[in-house]
Amino acid sequence: MENVHVIDHPLIQHKLTIIRDKNTGTKDFRDVVNEIARLLAYEVSRELPLKDIEIETPLVKTTQKTIAGKKVVIVPILRAGLGMVDGMLDLIPAARVGHIGMYRNEETMEPVEYFCKMPQGIDERELLIVDPMLATGGSAIAAIDALKKRGAKEMKLVVLVAAPEGIKKINEAHPDVAIYTAAIDEKLNDKAYIEPGLGDAGDRLFGTL
Ligand code: URA
Repeated sequence: MENVHVIDHPLIQHKLTIIRDKNTGTKDFRDVVNEIARLLAYEVSRELPLKDIEIETPLVKTTQKTIAGKKVVIVPILRAGLGMVDGMLDLIPAARVGHIGMYRNEETMEPVEYFCKMPQGIDERELLIVDPMLATGGSAIAAIDALKKRGAKEMKLVVLVAAPEGIKKINEAHPDVAIYTAAIDEKLNDKAYIEPGLGDAGDRLFGTL
């Protein structure tokens, strides 16, 4: 496995256990997903470029750092990715948000794009693609393909739980895209759910079980 960062901070591990628990209800699930997304945003933004600016403190003029370049774009893959957006925006409040929607064609089992609305200039921005679960990798690969086709160059994939199978697929299809995850789980089962996992993230976020 390449280009994968596991953010195994104790707070993240603790919160992951809460959302894995089947007895955690919709409200707490939603809140804790956002709390983990906030902590992941801190790590993912570690390498954002800085530039010098001149400011005045109450005492003196000084040169200090500020984030350089165009605003980051948070890109939730619909629908479950929406659950991570508010948490990420808490730390990166000026970020733009682009949405991409994928559904699975039941005959071919291939992901199909049904919605894509991005801000201007994605070729000059860093994109943080968010989706709680990296399972087969199918929808993430299709989303990255679609964004590259529209000119995106710099992308990171930010997930809560990843299956080794999905990581391998992303590495093969898009070796330039770094994966940030709170955990790498054991495996995919025969229904393409991650085990131990947390179930269907979209259903648990939106109470559609
Ligand atoms: N999507 C989910 O929501 N959960 C899984 O375990 C796999 C894919």
